[in-house]
Amino acid sequence: MYLGKFELGGKTALVTGGARGIGAACVDALLEAGARVIVADFSQENLEEARTRLSDADVCFEHVDVTDPDAVNRMAERVGTVDILINNAGIGRQTAAEDTPDAEWREVIDINLNGVFWCARAFGRRMIERGSGSIVNVGSMAGEIVVRPQKNVHYNASKAAVHQATRSLAAEWAPRGVRVNAVAPGFIETPMNAFALKQDVEMTRVWLGNTPMGRVGQTHEIASIVLFLASDASSLMTGAIVVADGGYTVW
Ligand code: NAI
Repeated sequence: MYLGKFELGGKTALVTGGARGIGAACVDALLEAGARVIVADFSQENLEEARTRLSDADVCFEHVDVTDPDAVNRMAERVGTVDILINNAGIGRQTAAEDTPDAEWREVIDINLNGVFWCARAFGRRMIERGSGSIVNVGSMAGEIVVRPQKNVHYNASKAAVHQATRSLAAEWAPRGVRVNAVAPGFIETPMNAFALKQDVEMTRVWLGNTPMGRVGQTHEIASIVLFLASDASSLMTGAIVVADGGYTVW
């Protein structure tokens, strides 16, 4: 009875930013649970790598920029109703607030927040019509606290907004059978933060020193939570923000 709740046989899942990093691990987890998966990503290069990596799997690929609501709507028309939506696409930028260019602020908010909403709206509508669905947003511990030492007010604000959008959508759509939850990762070893893990010894030292577990996380450690939230194993949960950060936010 219990392990069966994680089974996703016969279900379709779409993962934005699914070609690389945390999104790619989410694709693997959903496939292992039996879902058919749509990998939606903006980068042709990352999509090509994913195509090669997943050549034997039950996947299809969508080239989409989540910041473009018309493109997102067209993708939803093409692929139809999905059972599971993982809103994972996101970027990080590090700039002091007073030096942040307009375009950088807009870019971070556009991908990390607006993209989540355009996708949730396009696929949520169809889930509501069917009376069921599970949406998992990838937020961040930076949506709960201000992470040191990098300066990125846009990133922190975008992720806090994702968490609040998660709760708001959960409240609106719970009576219509659609659950909306989020995972809030700490530092995970992906290309996104290679700038620090590979090049900035001091920043990495501060990060790990502020993390009770004293290590960064791996993508599969987030994907397993996404699988839990996407599946019936979390059937009573909606509006939850599940923090997985090696303990960073307890200090
Ligand atoms: P990543 O940079 O390794 O992968 C992100 C993927 O999203 C890439 O394949 C990229 O092409 C795609 N993407 C970017 N912009 C897009 C757009 N406009 N439309 C469609 N796809 C787009 O990043 P990572 O580290 O895997 O991050 C994934 C999510 O996890 C992001 O939302 C990030 O904010 C969040 N996160 C990451 C943490 C980390 O330490 N790596 C910590 C906390 C949250």
